[in-house]
Amino acid sequence: NRNDTTARIAHVFRGTFVHSTSGAAVEILQNCVLGVDDQGKIAFIENDRDEESLSKLWGFGASDIKQLGQHEFLMPGMVDTHIHASQYSYTGTALDLPLLEWLNTYTFPVEAKYKDLEFANNVYTKVVRRTLKNGTTTACYFATIHTDASLLLGELADKFGQRALVGKVCMDCNSAVPQYKESSSEFKPVVTPRFAPSCSSSLLSELGEIANNNKLHIQSHISENKGEVELVKTLFPGCKSYTDVYLKHKLLTDRTVMAHGCHLTDEELEIFHETGSAISHCPNSNISICSGMLNVRNVLNHKVKLGLGTDVAAGYSPSMLDAMRRTLDTSKALTIQDPQHKTLSFEEVFRLATLGGSEGKIPSLIDK
Ligand code: GUN
Ligand code: FE
Repeated sequence: NRNDTTARIAHVFRGTFVHSTSGAAVEILQNCVLGVDDQGKIAFIENDRDEESLSKLWGFGASDIKQLGQHEFLMPGMVDTHIHASQYSYTGTALDLPLLEWLNTYTFPVEAKYKDLEFANNVYTKVVRRTLKNGTTTACYFATIHTDASLLLGELADKFGQRALVGKVCMDCNSAVPQYKESSSEFKPVVTPRFAPSCSSSLLSELGEIANNNKLHIQSHISENKGEVELVKTLFPGCKSYTDVYLKHKLLTDRTVMAHGCHLTDEELEIFHETGSAISHCPNSNISICSGMLNVRNVLNHKVKLGLGTDVAAGYSPSMLDAMRRTLDTSKALTIQDPQHKTLSFEEVFRLATLGGSEGKIPSLIDK
C-alpha cells in the first residue's frame, strides 16, 4: 500500500534489475517495474503483472515507462569506500616503491600542491566525473590537509550528483615534505587522521573526541604494509597492536572505515567486530605497491563489515569494476597458496562492491 501521498513518481523502468540482499549475494529480478520518486528514492519494485494497479496508484501512464533492452539491466550504484581524490593526477604511475617511501617520494609532494585552488579544481572535477562515469555513486574521499580545497571537492561532488564523504586529511608529523604538515591550531573538525605514523597521540585523541562528540564518520589506514606495522610499534610502544592505537584514541566506532588491514591478527579483527568498525579492501593498491593480500573470507568470518575501495593512486584504476576483479584475483591467489581457503564467488564480490560498501550502523550482512 502506498502510504506517502506527497511523493511523485519521476521515472518508471521496466525490465531486469540485479541487486544483493543479506540472504542472496545476487538476486536477478526479471519482468519487473521500478518506480523512482521525485526525491530520487526507489518507491516500488514489483512484478510487471501489477503494472496497471501501480499506474493507477502512482499516477503514471504507459508512455512514462522506459523499457530496458533485452541485454540491459539496472543495478545499484557502486560504493568506493576508499579513494584519494588528490592522487588522481598520477594514477597509473609511480608504483615502484613500497608504502612509506611511496608516500614521501610521490604522494606528499603532489598533495602539497592543493594549496592552489585552481589546481585542486582541475583534478577534483576530473576525478568526480570519471568515478561517476565508472558507476561509483558513493565515494569516501581523502582530500588533503587544505580545508578550502576539501570543501571544493564536496561542492563538486554535489554539483555532479555524487554522494561523497570528504575527509580533510589530518597529519602533524613524519612528513618528508616539511611544508606538507600542519600544526595543531589549524585543525578543523573533519575526521580523517591520515594513519597512525602521520599523527601524534594528541592529534589522534583530539580527532577521536571531535568524532564522538559530533557523531561523525572516521576514516584512516591500518596495517597496510609490514614496515608500517613495525613503525607503529616503535611510535606507540604503549599499545598492544596497531588496532589498539586507534581503539585507545576512540577512533574505532560503528562509523569508522579503515583501509587495507592486510596484516591484522584475528584478535584485532575481533576488536573490529566488537566496535562495529568496517574495513575497506583495496586489492589493486595492495598488489601494486606490494603491501599484502587481505584474506577477505577471514574478515567476513569474523563478522566485520567490509566494502571495496580503489585506493587511487596506490591503486592504478579508479573503477570499482576493477576493484571487483582484483578482489577475485587476490582471493584466488590465496587459494593457490592454501587450497583450504574458500575462494570468494563473483556474486559475493558484487555484493561487497554495492551493499557491502553501503553498510552503516546496522550491518545487514552479519548477524550481531
Ligand atoms: N597510508 C597513509 N597514507 C596513505 C596513502 O595516501 N595511500 C595509501 N595507499 N596508504 C596510505
Ligand atoms: Fe589509501
